[in-house]
Amino acid sequence: MKARNLSWGALVCGLALLATGCSTRSGSTEIPHLRKQGTATQLIVDGKPFLALAGELGNNSATSVECMKPAWPKLAEAKFNTVLAGVSWAQIEPQEGKFDFTVLDGIIRDAHSSNLHLALLWFASWKNGLSSYPPPWVKKDFDRFPRAQITGGETPWPVLTISEVPHVPVVGNLSIELLSTFSDANRDADAHAFAAMMRHIKEVDGREHTVILIQLENEVGFQGGSRDRSPAANTAFAGPVPTELMDYLQQHKDTLIPEFRQVWEAAGFKTSGTWEEVFGESPATDEIFEAWSYARYMGRVAGAGKAEYPIPIFANAALPRAATIAEVAKKGREPAGTPRYFAVGGPMADMLDVWRAGGPQVDVLSPDIYSDREFVAWCEKYHRNGNPLLIPETRGGPEGAARALYVFGRHDAIGFSPMGVDRSATPDQDLAGSYELISQLAPLIAEHQGTGTMSAVLLGPNDPPQKIQVGNYTLEVAVLRPRRAPSGESPSQATAPSVSAIFIATGPDEYIAAGSGVTVSFSPNTPGPPLAGLASVEEGAFVNGRWVPGRGLAGDESDEGQYVILRRPSGCCAPPGSTKSIQRVTLYRYR
Ligand code: DGJ
Repeated sequence: MKARNLSWGALVCGLALLATGCSTRSGSTEIPHLRKQGTATQLIVDGKPFLALAGELGNNSATSVECMKPAWPKLAEAKFNTVLAGVSWAQIEPQEGKFDFTVLDGIIRDAHSSNLHLALLWFASWKNGLSSYPPPWVKKDFDRFPRAQITGGETPWPVLTISEVPHVPVVGNLSIELLSTFSDANRDADAHAFAAMMRHIKEVDGREHTVILIQLENEVGFQGGSRDRSPAANTAFAGPVPTELMDYLQQHKDTLIPEFRQVWEAAGFKTSGTWEEVFGESPATDEIFEAWSYARYMGRVAGAGKAEYPIPIFANAALPRAATIAEVAKKGREPAGTPRYFAVGGPMADMLDVWRAGGPQVDVLSPDIYSDREFVAWCEKYHRNGNPLLIPETRGGPEGAARALYVFGRHDAIGFSPMGVDRSATPDQDLAGSYELISQLAPLIAEHQGTGTMSAVLLGPNDPPQKIQVGNYTLEVAVLRPRRAPSGESPSQATAPSVSAIFIATGPDEYIAAGSGVTVSFSPNTPGPPLAGLASVEEGAFVNGRWVPGRGLAGDESDEGQYVILRRPSGCCAPPGSTKSIQRVTLYRYR
């Protein structure tokens, strides 16, 4: 018994290391792409579904090969298989038409030799709404490369200011450090540089596939006012809504995002007219107008890049408002000078239709979710109408660890990525534990994504039990309460992190359950004997997709057969560093 467990434990960690990351590069000629499986969209790398267990570097970490050298081994050790790294337009094209890919080549080379994939973040026209990454030859030539403008009554308010310098209301028009979307010169310069980069990536990495995803710009959107008020913007706003958008809305009238459809409906479902005639007079219309202009601009940039190397492109959103676009429309125009606008027109979930109509070359709209309370809600808002879930920025630590499992199990996510992962000196053990588990389960998760035979639960410490239907049973998942103290009261868990677990129906009466901090009970949801019991529960691990059993669990470990209990492995046979349990459960029915 003991010998087997030890060999099982050692075997697990040794081979698990092999299973993670990209030592599985099969040299397939297929470039990274997206593929449908049932209701899911999967990222395919080297011909196989790939779950991006990712982390995002600090904004400028990858602008220095030397600065990154000590980071790569730490990132690999922390069980990442993908790193999100910023690429600066100014660094790539310091002089117009003169491209320098030295640093980018070094980053791709070092990621590759650390068995890590890359999602490159094209920091170009915009980063957090403003334009700090265009090269000086663009910034300086503001006649050729015009800025967006705000106007009287509005306050130039870089929202995410770190300095408390007071801001003064604007008299007349003021240019802000934000390239206008209404300039073909801005767009074409960005597209030209982006295409050059994509052509280069194809040349240097077209067979290795280190680079698997591209993020276009970063958290775009207008700020300092409800819309750009430059002359070009005002002319466009006074003009008719483009036919391409009206055609799209009419073709998709019954499947539009409901919150967006409400705005169009409230204004009478008109099929032509000015922006305010079609969508009504409110900041919501300004946002729809801006969303169209950003989508058009970024669609063209993405198209130029894909013409060179068509790997998947996503756009990340800053999530500036919790209110829906319909609620913004209902509120109507705000008195001048009050609101703090930022990321107006960015890829918000309820702007999916506008972005699809304007920039279909952008494959995925992605939320940067920093909010704790609304994490689940944002996942649901972004994972709909065929938009796959990819979270480029979020929190790490115990919360991140729980959320990672949840998004892959419940939302067929393509990728999950806490922000600033190279900032902390020590690896994030909680996240590493979760990534280690997900990489073990990766082949099984890929097999079940989009088939309705897999789900997951994320529970806060005081959340009530949750019921989910997976396969032939309804699972009731509850937070595992620490045993009551002899005095009878249970120790408070107010500050405990969320817990999560994934459930995969691998047979009519069989499940793989994985995670920690929960109990699970089962009840049949098909005709037959009404009660379900645990026939067998086995703890174990997957090595290269193959199940390696460990202990058989009953008694204390299943509360005398009442529940499956997923807790952090402990004791002699707990694989070092593992923070979550994997169990194979078979059920029987009785009356
Ligand atoms: C969100 C942005 O997308 C990131 O690049 C970074 O600026 C964080 N905010 C703040 O660190």
